[in-house]
Amino acid sequence: MTTISFWLNGALVAVDAPPTRTLLDHLRETQGLTGTKEGCNEGDCGACTVMVTDAAGARAINACILFLPQLHGKAVRTVEGLAGPDGSLHPVQQAMIDKHGSQCGFCTPGFVVTMAVGHLQGRVDHDDLLAGNLCRCTGYAPIIRAAEAAEGVPVPEWMHEDAALVARGLDAPGPIAPESADALAAWYLEHPDAVLVAGATDVGLWVTKGLRDLGEVAFLNRCAELRAIEERDGALRVGAAVSLAELHRALGARLPSLAELIRRFGSEQVRAAATVGGNIANGSPIGDSPPALIALGATLHLRRGDARREMPLEDFFLDYGKQDRRPGEFVEAVTFPADAPALRCYKISKRFDQDISAVCGCFNVTVADDSTVTAARIAFGGMAATPKRAAAVEAALVGRPWGEASLAAALDAFADDFTPLSDMRASEPYRLEVARNLLRRYAADLAGQPVSVLEVTP
Ligand SMILES: Cc1cc2nc3c(=O)[nH]c(=O)nc-3n(C[C@H](O)[C@H](O)[C@H](O)COP(=O)(O)OP(=O)(O)OC[C@H]3O[C@@H](n4cnc5c(N)ncnc54)[C@H](O)[C@@H]3O)c2cc1C
Ligand code: FES
Ligand code: FES
Repeated sequence: MTTISFWLNGALVAVDAPPTRTLLDHLRETQGLTGTKEGCNEGDCGACTVMVTDAAGARAINACILFLPQLHGKAVRTVEGLAGPDGSLHPVQQAMIDKHGSQCGFCTPGFVVTMAVGHLQGRVDHDDLLAGNLCRCTGYAPIIRAAEAAEGVPVPEWMHEDAALVARGLDAPGPIAPESADALAAWYLEHPDAVLVAGATDVGLWVTKGLRDLGEVAFLNRCAELRAIEERDGALRVGAAVSLAELHRALGARLPSLAELIRRFGSEQVRAAATVGGNIANGSPIGDSPPALIALGATLHLRRGDARREMPLEDFFLDYGKQDRRPGEFVEAVTFPADAPALRCYKISKRFDQDISAVCGCFNVTVADDSTVTAARIAFGGMAATPKRAAAVEAALVGRPWGEASLAAALDAFADDFTPLSDMRASEPYRLEVARNLLRRYAADLAGQPVSVLEVTP
């Protein structure tokens, strides 16, 4: 048991709970706040969306894969807390009524919470914002109309309360959540079998779907150094606990192709929780950021106690489920160039939004003025047991003129690099074919031809 304190709809609560008790279960079973719904219980549907506010601002997050200790010192607002103290509806609630945005209503609490967070932030990118909220019966057009209708309405006074509460701070000591990288390093060395929890978008499912007892855990979200992004000498050093949403914001107009890949990573709620370090440390062969970072030539920084080491990111992935990480060692940061004009990242998945890649191909080829390829970094997810560089494809390109002959040789070389699996996402022949086609697409992209097939426009 550990005591966690946070503000819930404006009131401070102190909860004694096991560290892997989810916020959703706490809300529904302990607090009786059943407005927050359980749909999938795995981060996919958004029915459980709540607003979480900390010093960095407000975010929409899925409560079903959010453990209570991740909330210590933060403020949570559920659908029950959206209306004003006098019962007046929040503008997005009113707009949902006016625009007929609800039928069975199961999805509605999640939608209005996500919309209320977007409204607070002045967001108008409603398609991106709501991509993690699924509705089976109303249809999205009335819901988007409601979000648009609420755009110009002022943010109600009470929606600013949580930021003020969080700024006031808490005296209560935190649960197992080291406040510095030094403290984490010392603790983890003593407890090398513990599970580190960053955003819990993977670990949450081990509990809610795998029904696993995690044993000892440590939460990384209060560790300030791991949440830092620094820029030095043209390189970005991104702390392991930086979320995908924070990285997206920090990129701004830089590395636009990586930014577009992140826009399609999970959903608003998933990007707000999922971390860069978690996406690397989980060693998934279909994680989206590793191929992009490998193509950028990223360096991974690892730490065990006071000992630090670094390696090219591709060397971290040894085999399926096996990474070059020692007991008690954790991912501290990843460093990569802040500018790479030739970088292109292509995610192939069955759905545009909120889907895991079948294949993710990332290309970064340097072509000299005389057309000779002087360097090539090409990496794929979904093509092997790990995120993997296409060494034979690169070798077929480097030193040769960038053109049809070298491309043809490179296309042949794919079979030397990869023997992909067939699974529910894609078959082996499809994966090989699509990977080859992505090289063709890259060549067309560099030649200035329009290649984006991401948006279907009427
Ligand atoms: C609905 C949904 C959609 C998703 N969509 C995508 C997607 O589009 N693309 C994609 O790539 N992934 C996706 N994921 C997977 C997941 O969001 C990512 O892998 C995410 O980056 C994991 O980060 P996290 O912080 O949540 O990790 P956690 O779940 O907290 O941890 C994951 C693993 O990494 C370890 N770990 C975490 N941080 C460290 C560290 N600093 N050092 C050492 N070990 C560490 C943990 O112990 C655990 O083993 C999705 C997940 C969900 C639920
Ligand atoms: S219940 Fe579906 S995302 Fe939480
Ligand atoms: S109104 Fe029924 S699921 Fe959306």
